[in-house]
Amino acid sequence: MNMVDPTPARIGIVTVSDRASRGEYADEGGPAIQAWLESALTSVWEPVLRVIPDDRAGIEASLAALCDDAGCCLVVTTGGTGPAPRDVTPEATEAVCTKMLPGFGEQMRAVSLRHVPTAILSRQTAGVRGATLIVNLPGKPSAIAECLDAVFPAIPYCVDLIGGPYLDTDPVRVRSFRPAHARRPG
Ligand code: MTE
Repeated sequence: MNMVDPTPARIGIVTVSDRASRGEYADEGGPAIQAWLESALTSVWEPVLRVIPDDRAGIEASLAALCDDAGCCLVVTTGGTGPAPRDVTPEATEAVCTKMLPGFGEQMRAVSLRHVPTAILSRQTAGVRGATLIVNLPGKPSAIAECLDAVFPAIPYCVDLIGGPYLDTDPVRVRSFRPAHARRPG
């Protein structure tokens, strides 16, 4: 029997950028995340897109609404992870999460350092709020695939563990890992 849930899993995609939110340049990060997810996920899902300024209270409110009201199982942010005064995405993420998962940031920085020495400047992190996993990515569009390739194998099982929907990936694009007892046939 096919046990795949036909209800689309909602995934929040949040671009945190003063200039993109003012329309001074086109948002490239959000569409890059959406394109990556479209290429990787084989289970049904739908994006919930936001482009917001680098304002801590606003970021916290958007993240909380995507988790609590929109019912996203996963929220991926891009931007605002560096050391500049307006970079506050990790602080906002930590403020709304009940549990932090520091391994995500460690792994993304480790992989990114193979591409660019300034990867060390990103304070990107991840955490859980209720039944939602929140993952920060840096603002550079080229960082998106590098970081998602590095951590996505662990995301479907993390979403299982926090009570979210069963996410499936194309193993040619990204091989997600679940312990044998957690795997569904098909
Ligand atoms: N990670 C990857 N994979 N590729 C990149 O180009 N840029 C770095 C870093 N991480 C980068 C990266 C740079 S230059 C900065 S300042 C930090 O991410 C923070 O970027 P952000 O403030 O746009 O999030």
